[in-house]
Amino acid sequence: MYSEKVMDHFSNPRNMGEIEDASGVGTVGNAKCGDIMRMYLDIDEGGVIQDCKFKTFGCGAAIASSSMATELVKGKTVSQALEVTNQAVMEALDGLPPVKVHCSLLAEEAIHAALWDYAQKNQIEIEGLQKPKSDVHEGEENQEEAY
Ligand code: FES
Repeated sequence: MYSEKVMDHFSNPRNMGEIEDASGVGTVGNAKCGDIMRMYLDIDEGGVIQDCKFKTFGCGAAIASSSMATELVKGKTVSQALEVTNQAVMEALDGLPPVKVHCSLLAEEAIHAALWDYAQKNQIEIEGLQKPKSDVHEGEENQEEAY
C-alpha cells in the first residue's frame, strides 16, 4: 500500500527536530484526524532556505510527507519553495494512497505557514503566498469521503 520511499522516510525521517531562532515557523493541523505539523525554516539574507526541520504529531504518511518536504525546500529560494506543493511531495514519495492525500497537504500548508511567518517578521510580501489556514480541513469538505 505504501511505496518504498514512504516507508523509508517514515522509518528514517530526515530533518526531524526544531531550529532555534528560526526565520519562520508554521504550525498547521487537521481537525478531522487530529494530526499536527510544525515546520521551521532558516532563511539567509538572500532569501535562500538554508535549513528546514519539522515536528509532526501524526500518522506515518504525515511524517514521511514532512520529511520529504524538508528535503525538497532546502536550498530553494522562498518563491521556489512555493512550488513544493502536496502534489510535488506526493510525486517525490512515489505516491500516497487516496485516503492519505490530506497528509501531504498538511506539509504544503506547514511550509506556507512558515513562509508566511517569515514574511510577517520581515515585513515583506512573497508573491503568490496567501495567508495559510491554520486548519487544513477547511476547504476540504468536498473530499469528505476520502477520510
Ligand atoms: Fe491526518 Fe495523516 S491521517 S495527517
